[in-house]
Amino acid sequence: MNQLKWWQKTLVYQVYPKSFQDTTGTGTGDLPGVTRRLDYLKSLGVGAIWLTPCYPSPMVDNGYDIADYCAIDPAYGTMEDMETLIAEAKKRGIRIVMDLVYNHSSDQHPWFLESKRDRTNDKADWYIWRDPKEDGSAPTNWRGIFGGSAWTYVEERGQYYLHTFAEAQPDLNWENPAVRHALYDAANFWLRKGVGGFRIDAIVYIKKPSVLADGKPDAGDGMVSIHEMIANTPGILDFLYEFRREVFDGHDIFTVAEANSVPPEDLCKWVGEKGAFSMLFEFTHMNLEFEGGEIWCHAKKWPLTKLKGALTASQKGTAASGWYPIFFENHDQIRSVSRYFSADADPILAAKAMATVLLTLRGTPFVFEGQELGMRNMKLPRIEDYDDISSHGQYQLALDEGFSQKEALAFVQAHSRDNARTPMQWSKEKNAGFTAGTPWLPVHPDFADVNVEAEERDAGSVLNYYRALAHERLAGKASHVLLAGDYRELMEEDERIYAFSRSFGDHTAYVLVNFTAKDAPYDEGVHAGAKRLFGNYADTVRGTLRPCEARVYIK
Ligand code: GLC
Repeated sequence: MNQLKWWQKTLVYQVYPKSFQDTTGTGTGDLPGVTRRLDYLKSLGVGAIWLTPCYPSPMVDNGYDIADYCAIDPAYGTMEDMETLIAEAKKRGIRIVMDLVYNHSSDQHPWFLESKRDRTNDKADWYIWRDPKEDGSAPTNWRGIFGGSAWTYVEERGQYYLHTFAEAQPDLNWENPAVRHALYDAANFWLRKGVGGFRIDAIVYIKKPSVLADGKPDAGDGMVSIHEMIANTPGILDFLYEFRREVFDGHDIFTVAEANSVPPEDLCKWVGEKGAFSMLFEFTHMNLEFEGGEIWCHAKKWPLTKLKGALTASQKGTAASGWYPIFFENHDQIRSVSRYFSADADPILAAKAMATVLLTLRGTPFVFEGQELGMRNMKLPRIEDYDDISSHGQYQLALDEGFSQKEALAFVQAHSRDNARTPMQWSKEKNAGFTAGTPWLPVHPDFADVNVEAEERDAGSVLNYYRALAHERLAGKASHVLLAGDYRELMEEDERIYAFSRSFGDHTAYVLVNFTAKDAPYDEGVHAGAKRLFGNYADTVRGTLRPCEARVYIK
């Protein structure tokens, strides 16, 4: 266990700055707001904060469209505010982790403004430009991840540029070494500022096939998801190893890449001593309702065994070498209580059950702001109320597939990224203490009960459960087992209970979680001889897990 690195023995907290804490009354959170809340984060056991992008941006995709990689957006504060945040966090043993969005920039980035001017300028091949098909249409039938064609035509060049995401997010051309080195320089700039690591956005898309060709349509719009056509194109690892050499090597930092659909058998090339990154986020356990592309109107019900299988595969994939970020929420996903439990489940018990899984698996737990309070999805009444750009693309896609407006809205309500982006709930005061102004996205109506102040006072709250279990994991008697123990799945076939053990030396922890809102009897032999260490009910009933019950045993 002494061999574990600092980032393997801590908890990472994700801050979505726009929704975290406003100190100026603009209705938008800011960096001084994050600094103000550092003591709160410290109390949770947080050792690193992943800050989603706070660089200058037209905010078409809330900062994931970057116009300058080495500056701070005035809406969030100044470079000095950033330096203060890094320094104040450091005093509390917390490192700041920046988000690198390197697959694409904003269409307002000076690089792109130059690139689009004509075919001969200095940055002419910094982005992915292609001629139209003979009939003038887009070079391929690829659908961007936010819906609509992945190509946009530019008159000045008489060409189309490729954008995996929105039109305002042109893909950078990684084949050009000047582009790669400009990006490495920007990351090194942040290392000199003292950041403790990087989360690397959408990295599986940086390498494109040498020939860009049409794919078989996968939905009513005649297009195919770009993800299917370009994710993990062979040759990508050469870029990633260079990235590592030029930026990460030799620093006491961690990197975590957003890398959807890296197969578990390839994990050792991506993470670990020889891999490109310290960890990677893959999404099999989040995309349970989707097969193929993430098309919201194609969502299907899934059995618990699918979730268990996905978690076990990633635990096994990183068992020999490598390390896994454990996460059930982020700014792109719906709230975990709403995803993994049925509507009739008690939300407090369910949030604690999720906390139990999060804080007992092998890996580094990532907590998304508000998850530690048990925040839930929020339905907005009209499509116009949604800010999230992907919600609008998916709404249109559902209409193209023949669904009514009402049905299309229901898909958005169920899957929109805005479910996770509602303002952080600090107190029962106006706007949950998030802002003195008008919040950029409505505050969840449950804030009078679900908020930091109320939960701090309540011994039975989700927040206090998180604090206690995080303490148990990081500094308790069973800490070595929970941090370093080997993982084994138990009761694999059970459709109600997720059960696994963690073993280290002579000690074994057993974790059992009932994912249903009903009693789930089981055979106690599975944890024979072990004592109850933790749980989300005060007492224990023998041989049965009550609705949403979670228990940890130790021997
Ligand atoms: C990642 C981000 C997401 C963003 C997208 C485009 O998936 O997490 O929020 O929209 O990349 O940058």
